[in-house]
Amino acid sequence: MSMTWRAAMERALYGPGGFFVTGPGPAAHFRTSAHVTDTLAPVVLRLLTRVDAALGHPQRLDVVDIGAGQAELLLALAGLAPEDLSRRLRLTAVELSPRPGSLPASIEWRDRPPAGVVGLLIATEWLDNVPLDLAGAGPAGWHEVRVDPSTGTESTGAPVTGPDLDWLTRWWPAPPAEPARPAVPAPGARAEIGRPRDSAWAEAVGTISRGLALAVDYGHLRADRPTGGTLTGFRAGRQVPPVPDGSCDLTAHVAIDSVATAGEAVAGMPYTLVGQRAAMRALGADGSRPPLALASTDPAGYVRALAAASRVAELTEPAGLGGHWWLLQPVGLDPTGLLSEPR
Ligand SMILES: C[S@@+](CC[C@H](N)C(=O)[O-])C[C@H]1O[C@@H](n2cnc3c(N)ncnc32)[C@H](O)[C@@H]1O
Repeated sequence: MSMTWRAAMERALYGPGGFFVTGPGPAAHFRTSAHVTDTLAPVVLRLLTRVDAALGHPQRLDVVDIGAGQAELLLALAGLAPEDLSRRLRLTAVELSPRPGSLPASIEWRDRPPAGVVGLLIATEWLDNVPLDLAGAGPAGWHEVRVDPSTGTESTGAPVTGPDLDWLTRWWPAPPAEPARPAVPAPGARAEIGRPRDSAWAEAVGTISRGLALAVDYGHLRADRPTGGTLTGFRAGRQVPPVPDGSCDLTAHVAIDSVATAGEAVAGMPYTLVGQRAAMRALGADGSRPPLALASTDPAGYVRALAAASRVAELTEPAGLGGHWWLLQPVGLDPTGLLSEPR
């Protein structure tokens, strides 16, 4: 039995017995920036402090984490926030998986984002798990790629039409098979149709009354789409073939410029897109090694600084987590200074 990839991903990840709604949670299978909490949380806290100031220190300051995993980031933020911020914070994890039993009552757990958010909405490695359809080159141009969920075997379906074809035409230009037939992509070309991610992000941005939405994820831009696509699987720390049977994570990099444009249309304000390395730097985590002289004057301090620098390095290594994009979408808030280097 074959089905569309979007339906297969939806069922395999979030259906009954699905990969993300049963089992130990994402951290048992792969490492994300949010799991480097010692480093990411202070950086996010600095951003939150700047958002708070730009909002004029509201009585209630939201932090909404969409696709929160086991709420690792929210827990770390709660532990780090100074008293004047902490008493105004309302922390909300938005997750499709069950609430962890040990989570403190101060963190709300829900499966849809709340409305009227005033503060920071954050989504680290959420969008790459939003199910989507795949297209492959075929005789009539782009055709849907169908998949057998029990084996991962793919087959070619009907030609892609309507809004999906419009999306591909606008956002995923592929090298043509022949110059005279530009709508027929070269044999072997595949594309991941990012429309559901655009909608998911636009909906998330739409829940903000005033504040900032931040998506952190692997992605690519229109001029540089991967011709064979990026869909893959992960299980227990290893990359595995993407079989949509509920046994592994299924992830595809995000067409981040398309997502950004969808969010911007809702917010009515320009977005900012930067690499994780630049964002971390601007938020005070530069990863430089401590001066060697510190080793003789303060050996313990030197070791601590060295350990901190290597954690930052994990988040800024371009071939790893440093390859993330940071998409910042302000809503009703002046973004000046949100990402400026600390003095
Ligand atoms: C790759 S994990 C990322 C977890 C965490 N943010 C991190 O960076 O470690 C993606 C998470 O998004 C959740 N998720 C996916 N779609 C969702 C949705 N529509 N609403 C809420 N959570 C969702 C999944 O259940 C999964 O826990």
